[in-house]
Amino acid sequence: MNIWKLKRGADRRVRAGHPWVYANELAQSPKGVVPGGLVELQDDQGRFVARGYGNPLSLIAFRVLSLDSKEKNPLSKESLIERVLEAWKSRRLMGFRASFRLVFSEADRLPGLIVDHYVGEQNGRRLQVFATQILTAGMQQALGDAETFFRDLVAAATERGYTAIPWEQTAVVLRNDVRSRKLEGMSEDQARFIKSVREADFTNFGILLNAATDDGLVEMNCDLFEGQKTGFFLDQTANIATVCRILEHHPDLPKDRPVRVLDLCCYVGHWSSQLTRALRRRGCDVETTLVDISARALEFARKNAERQGAKTVVLEADVMKALTKLEKNYDIVIADPPAFVKARKDLPVGQHAYLKLNTQAFRVVNRDGLVVSCSCSGLLDEDMFKEAIGKSIRRNFLDARCVARGGPAPDHPGRLSFPEGMYLKMFTHLVGDQGAGGGAAAGAGASGAGDED
Ligand SMILES: C[S@@+](CC[C@H](N)C(=O)[O-])C[C@H]1O[C@@H](n2cnc3c(N)ncnc32)[C@H](O)[C@@H]1O
Repeated sequence: MNIWKLKRGADRRVRAGHPWVYANELAQSPKGVVPGGLVELQDDQGRFVARGYGNPLSLIAFRVLSLDSKEKNPLSKESLIERVLEAWKSRRLMGFRASFRLVFSEADRLPGLIVDHYVGEQNGRRLQVFATQILTAGMQQALGDAETFFRDLVAAATERGYTAIPWEQTAVVLRNDVRSRKLEGMSEDQARFIKSVREADFTNFGILLNAATDDGLVEMNCDLFEGQKTGFFLDQTANIATVCRILEHHPDLPKDRPVRVLDLCCYVGHWSSQLTRALRRRGCDVETTLVDISARALEFARKNAERQGAKTVVLEADVMKALTKLEKNYDIVIADPPAFVKARKDLPVGQHAYLKLNTQAFRVVNRDGLVVSCSCSGLLDEDMFKEAIGKSIRRNFLDARCVARGGPAPDHPGRLSFPEGMYLKMFTHLVGDQGAGGGAAAGAGASGAGDED
């Protein structure tokens, strides 16, 4: 086996549970393995630290698979399947019953692997889809023939009672259309099915999700082949449930007019659909304004929200341009944009973009309304995000109470030793009086909203 030695002291972070080693932490320049090959990592004294895979082409030269010296080949198919089953068990323990993120890379001790498990019904058949992203050379090598891997996984999961859907009703789609693969010396590939199901249409597929109100399942249509990421964003389920819980107990929801929801960067309308369902249960009419730059996502969003009983207004536009044209009129505003910070150098500009977006979100919310502010930029830490939201509130001279905060749903677990994995942040504010509390610290009112600072 290839052995790579660390510089003195560089083992500390790995022994504490961090799963990455950078090339400059190695005693010699990384060599001797094809990208993704098995490597044993040792400290400067030659003592075992970890086993994992190495990639001389990547800045992250080594990724940990095991800190147990007795585990000789953590890259074997059996070991990987066991890890996926462990992850599956944890999702079941967290109450996920239909579609969920099955594998979340480092957090599930499967660095470089994302698998979203979608379940839905089509033509009277229950189908399951494993939408998979392989992000590292090590994982690409380890999975080998991915069709065989998933067939064996389904057999093992069936044996444990985790799925009752047979292999004939199972599809596997590789969503390796991801730019970050290039950092590993791999190509950005087109999406492709490595296993499909006859007469099934996965480009318009109704996935089943736990209802946010925890009373059954909700069906939402999306495109698992060409939709963004793996076709759907599963990470907001816990945050949506938190906001639905607030609404469930709200004593004064409007009854003489629809509750007005503004869903910014709505994608296929997950927030709107679940909120509509929760509000309809309270006897409210709902009008949701869906804003996104993607026409195709909006078409799904409209149908998904209407299926739950919402009236919809659709705005296909850049969110900032759309927002500046809207008046204060909304009871719930959701701001869940794409990651504005993709690299460290983007931090100041990205933080400013959150400020601009949230300033507009707080400008258009009604008194006693809710603003849900989200950031999926892993590099923007919580303090920087809070600073942007705080300033947005002050710019509108509002008194706003933070009534809920959240992160990724439990099917996107994190590890305290690996903060890079905990990327999603959500703060919900209940908005009170204008002219109160928040003060005028930023010195710019709503009219100056979002333009400078
Ligand atoms: C993080 S996803 C939103 C996920 C969604 N809220 C959900 O929970 O399913 C970001 C969305 O922003 C949209 N988007 C990206 N840039 C945009 C822009 N400039 N204006 C409006 N929407 C944009 C994308 O099309 C995508 O649907």
